[in-house]
Amino acid sequence: MNLPEERKNDMAISENARAVLEKRYLIRDEKGEPTETVEELFHRVANAIAAADASFDPKADVAATARCFYDMMTGLDFLPNSPTLMNAGRPLGQLSACFVLPVGDSMEEIFDAIKNAALIHKSGGGTGFSFSRLRPRGSTVNSTGGVASGPISFMKVFNAATEAVKQGGTRRGANMGILRVDHPDILDFITCKNDTKEITNFNISVGITEKFMQAVENGGSYELVDPASHKVTGTLSAREVFDKIVSSAWQTGEPGIIFLDRLNRDNPCPQQGEIESTNPCGEQPLLPYEACNLGSINLVTHLKEEDGRWVLDKDKLTTTIRNAVHFLDNVIEVNKYPLPEIDAMTRSTRKIGLGVMGFADMLLYMGIPYNSDQGVAMAREVMELVNTIGHEESQALAQVRGAFPLFSESTYRNGKPLRNATVTTIAPTGTLSIIAGVSSGVEPVFAYAYIRNVMDNTHLIETNQILKNVLVSRGLYSDALMRQIVEQGSLAHVDGIPEDIKRVFVCAHDVSPIWHVKMQAAFQAYTDNAVSKTVNFPNSATKEEVAEVYTLAYKLGCKGTTIYRDGSRDEQVLNIGKVN
Ligand code: CDP
Repeated sequence: MNLPEERKNDMAISENARAVLEKRYLIRDEKGEPTETVEELFHRVANAIAAADASFDPKADVAATARCFYDMMTGLDFLPNSPTLMNAGRPLGQLSACFVLPVGDSMEEIFDAIKNAALIHKSGGGTGFSFSRLRPRGSTVNSTGGVASGPISFMKVFNAATEAVKQGGTRRGANMGILRVDHPDILDFITCKNDTKEITNFNISVGITEKFMQAVENGGSYELVDPASHKVTGTLSAREVFDKIVSSAWQTGEPGIIFLDRLNRDNPCPQQGEIESTNPCGEQPLLPYEACNLGSINLVTHLKEEDGRWVLDKDKLTTTIRNAVHFLDNVIEVNKYPLPEIDAMTRSTRKIGLGVMGFADMLLYMGIPYNSDQGVAMAREVMELVNTIGHEESQALAQVRGAFPLFSESTYRNGKPLRNATVTTIAPTGTLSIIAGVSSGVEPVFAYAYIRNVMDNTHLIETNQILKNVLVSRGLYSDALMRQIVEQGSLAHVDGIPEDIKRVFVCAHDVSPIWHVKMQAAFQAYTDNAVSKTVNFPNSATKEEVAEVYTLAYKLGCKGTTIYRDGSRDEQVLNIGKVN
C-alpha cells in the first residue's frame, strides 16, 4: 500500500533521516510497503509509552503525556533507542537495546544462552556474554571422558547462530564477548579475531582486574585460574599479556578492555551477583539476565542565542531530562521481555540509560574546540546536569511509583529512594544521531566533507552544515575548498581557512588520543553506567601510543576503552573520503 500524500507530513528531519526511518523502522505490510508515516511512527511510540502512566494513577492525563513525548521526539530533543522506535505499540513490544546473558559451564547452559540470544536478536536487542565460567580448552569433560573445546570454540557457535538469525532483517545481531584476563585461554582469546572470520558478529574485550593492572605497573606476574576447578594452572607476566592486548588492538582494533573491578565497584545491587559483562558496544554493564533501555538527548536543540553567541539552554535541558527519565521508566513498564528471567531481573532493578548526542556539534556552535580544557569542562557541565537532574527525577518518580524493588538491599539504601538503579549511560547513537542529524554520542565529528556516490555515477560533496554556514558567512565557501577538505580528510592543512576556524572545526583525527581519553573520562565522572567512545589513531601510530592510552584510561577512571587505528581493518565503515 502506498501512503496517500496527505499522510506524508512535514516533520523537520532531513531526507537522509527520513530514508533511514522508512527503510528500517516503519511498519510494513506483507508486500513490504510501509503502512505508517514517520509521524505516525512517533505517535505510535508516544502513545504506547505514555499509556504506562495509567497503571500508577487511573486519573493520569495520558493524552497530555503522549503529546509531550511526541513533541520531544519530533522536535528531535530526545530519542529512545532503536528497538523502542521499531517495536513500541506493536505485538512484539521488545523495547531494550541491551542485554547480558549468563554462560554456564555445561552443554545445557551454553546452548540455552545461544537460544536466548537468538530470541533477543530477533527483537532488535544486542547481547553481551562473559565466557569466563567455561572450563579451558583441553580440560576433561567428566561425563564423556573427552576434552573440552574451550570458550573460543563456543564463541564460534554463538557467532554462527547470530549470523543465521540476522535480526529479522532489521538489525544485524551484535554481541559482546568477554574473557577475564586470568582465564587460562586468555592468550588465544586476545588474538581470536585476528586469525578467523568466524567471530565477526562479536566485539571482544578482555576483562581486566585491579590486581592485573598493579602487576603490569610493578612488572610482576599473575596467576591463571581454571574457573571449573578453581586451581591455578600457571602464571604469566602481566606486562607481556598487556603488550599482547595492545599489539592485537594496534593491529585490528580488538580486543578492547573493560575494568571489571570498576564495573563492580559501581554495581548498585551486589547481592544479586557480580557484573561480568556489558552490552555489545560496552556502555552498559549489566547483571546476568538484566536488560536496559537507553535514550539520548540531542544537545544541539538545547542551545539558545544570547548576545550573538550560542549557549546551553539549561532550563530547556532540565525539562527534557525530566521528561526523558519519565519516558524511559515507562518503557520498563510496557516492555515485553523475551524471557521470564529477564522480565523479573529487569523489573527488580529498573535500570535506564539516559545520555546525550550531538555534543561535538554543540561545541562547534559554541566555538569551543573539542580538544581543549574548555571542551572538557563543557562535557563535565552538561553531564553533571543530566546526571543530577536525572537522579532527582528518578527520586520524584519513586515517591509516586515506589523505589526499584531491590532498593533496600542496594548501595543506595541509606539515601533517598530511587526509581531506577542506574539513570545515565552514553550510547553510541549510531542510528539515532542519523535520525537527529547530529554528531554521534560524545564523539568528535568524523569528517566535515565527504563524497557521496549517487545514481548514474555522479559524486556529490556533502558538507557539514555548521561548517558550511560559517564559511558562507565569512565569504569563504567554494567547491574547490570543500574538495580540498575531502582530499585531506581534515581542515588542518587546507590553505585559505583562517586559524580560528581550523582551531574549532577539528575532526576525530585532529584530536590526539590523549584528548579522546580525557573527554571520555570527563563524561564518565558523571555517568552511572559507562561511556561509548572510540579512541581514534592515525595509521602511523605506534604500539607504545596505544599502550599509553590504555594506561591513561585506567588512570583517569574510565570503565574501559576501545581504540581504532585508521586503516587497520579491511571492512572499515567510515572512510575519510577521497575524490576519484
Ligand atoms: O542509535 P541506536 O539506538 O540504533 O543504537 P546505538 O546507540 O548505536 O547502540 C546502542 C546499543 O544497541 C548497542 O550498544 C547494542 O547493545 C545495541 N545494538 C545492537 O544490538 N545491534 C546493532 N546493530 C546496533 C546496536
